[in-house]
Amino acid sequence: MTGFSHRFGGVWTADKLHVLRQYLNFYTTALKGQPFELVYIDAFAGTGRCTIRGGASGEEQIDGSAKIALDCMPPFHRLQFIEKKPKHYKELLKLKAAHPNGDRVQISNLSASDSLPSALRAYNWKKTRGVLFLDPYGLQCSWSMLRQINDTHALDVFFLVSVSGLFRQAAVDQSRIDEGKAKKLTDFLGTDGWRHALYQQEQPDFFDEPRVTRATGWKDIVQFTTERLRSLFPYVADPQLLAGPKGPPLFALYFAVTNPSPKAIGLAKRVHRDILSKLV
Ligand SMILES: C[S@@+](CC[C@H](N)C(=O)[O-])C[C@H]1O[C@@H](n2cnc3c(N)ncnc32)[C@H](O)[C@@H]1O
Repeated sequence: MTGFSHRFGGVWTADKLHVLRQYLNFYTTALKGQPFELVYIDAFAGTGRCTIRGGASGEEQIDGSAKIALDCMPPFHRLQFIEKKPKHYKELLKLKAAHPNGDRVQISNLSASDSLPSALRAYNWKKTRGVLFLDPYGLQCSWSMLRQINDTHALDVFFLVSVSGLFRQAAVDQSRIDEGKAKKLTDFLGTDGWRHALYQQEQPDFFDEPRVTRATGWKDIVQFTTERLRSLFPYVADPQLLAGPKGPPLFALYFAVTNPSPKAIGLAKRVHRDILSKLV
């Protein structure tokens, strides 16, 4: 379909997209026949195609989230792709033009933070249900974005959190976290409570200044993130950790539900059991 190849990720990318594909097909099948308009929103849409590291040849081409959502059967009634990078946006325009369901697609060439508020306002959430995918490279999502998503009470959310990104911002010595990094962490987590939750003051030697250091590791950072998300969304499944070939996990894939009804939460728990938890 395209000559341009969006290179990123590895085996964990294929795992993440496998879960997304399974879930989207499950979702539109489960809601088929219900009186809702079904919408898919991809706030970091990419190009519809990605080249990942891995496989026998060292590289593999796979469908990206936008193509997976377009191919979903039964199809979504409307799809909204947000992609900031002009080159990627142009690939999405080609995908839309070539796909039989392309007329259902709207594409925005803005950042997610600029585009998402108006995109969310454009729907009547009493008559609409949908899935929203947040798949940034790093910490490009903010708490205010998550709050707006939760306010729909109608969207299910897949949210890829960059554990390595959080780890990088949260330097071991708190005094080395500059203002920009601290703001990034606070905007992302919706609180500056990370300063106390992840750090503690070391007992100073007689001559030393007291140091505040992070005694916690990636597990605590993930745990704190999970607690934060659970303070906002009515239901958040245990995250699936996505690891590279070695070292700690690079990402945590979260599944959250914004609809507080017991029926929606019951369904989400089934999704966790049948789809997400199989990804180990
Ligand atoms: C990890 S890729 C998404 C991959 C996509 N989900 C897929 O499966 O092919 C992240 C994408 O977000 C785009 N991007 C980066 N910052 C953005 C922002 N602030 N708003 C919207 N898109 C952004 C990048 O250009 C890139 O295409």
